[in-house]
Amino acid sequence: MNQSIAVSVTKIQQVTPMIKEFSFEALHQPLMPFSSGSHVVVQLPIADRIIRNAYSLLNDPYEQHQYQIAVRLQDNSRGGSKYLHENIQVGDQLQISAPLNLFSLHSQAQHHVFIAGGIGITPFLSHMKYLLHAGHSFELHYACRDGISNAYEDMLLQLFHDHVQIYSEKNQQRLDIQALLQKQLLSSHVYICGPDRLIQAVTGCASALGWSLKRVHWEAFTSPSAGAPFDAVLNKSQRKIHVPSDFSLLEALEQAGVEVPNLCRGGVCGQCVTAYSQGEVEHLDHYLSVQEQAAQLMPCVSRAKQGTCLHLDL
Ligand code: FES
Repeated sequence: MNQSIAVSVTKIQQVTPMIKEFSFEALHQPLMPFSSGSHVVVQLPIADRIIRNAYSLLNDPYEQHQYQIAVRLQDNSRGGSKYLHENIQVGDQLQISAPLNLFSLHSQAQHHVFIAGGIGITPFLSHMKYLLHAGHSFELHYACRDGISNAYEDMLLQLFHDHVQIYSEKNQQRLDIQALLQKQLLSSHVYICGPDRLIQAVTGCASALGWSLKRVHWEAFTSPSAGAPFDAVLNKSQRKIHVPSDFSLLEALEQAGVEVPNLCRGGVCGQCVTAYSQGEVEHLDHYLSVQEQAAQLMPCVSRAKQGTCLHLDL
């Protein structure tokens, strides 16, 4: 993890019954500037461990004094989102990473097409606030569920007017991905953030329409989910470490004092790539090709299949 920053929680807002927004201000030094699409990794001290979850910054990058994130209470939470929702109060102090950007705007795009599903709206809030200042062209397509995941719906319509199209049961609109992509000029880039099935639907449709995948950008926002416990053998030191069901392999390695480079902790940046020589892996990353997965894994999200022991090149 990169340099950690002490912040205080200055505001908490219930955005929907499932989503809370948290505002952070620095305790000791000015916050670092960030570009739209950046995320921070928040350290959450839960029981006898620290869970590190990545959250997109949603505020205007021109704001210097605060960072804002929004957190959806996850059904299969290992405790991170539950802890933020139920334990964190205004005035509490937290450690977070410096902002990192793995989902930046493409500098050559003449028009930016954003497609968000539910809580995947967060990086686009920051992008759109920036683009509004810069006077650049964009549109947002936001699929959400009324009363659950329709965070910021009113604010979006108020602030961005006809740049925004909402798709929900209430307005009975459905997103037609093919029609949306077909009408784009070659200078448009598309960005997706939301559930896997939305990312796959858009990337699959773009491929079928002959889009260069250089014009398609996406960010998965999955945190590692709980799974069956397993053991991992470190080939170089011959140490065996146990990975409990609510730990990721990366967290178990860190707990054992084994440092593995990481940035996103969500299977997208490629930093934590680790070779393995034995064992069956449940690959949950969005980075490695099928061929690469035969010998490499991403310990931030991937686990051993039930009943196997992984032998890692560490
Ligand atoms: S830390 Fe980014 S892929 Fe694992």
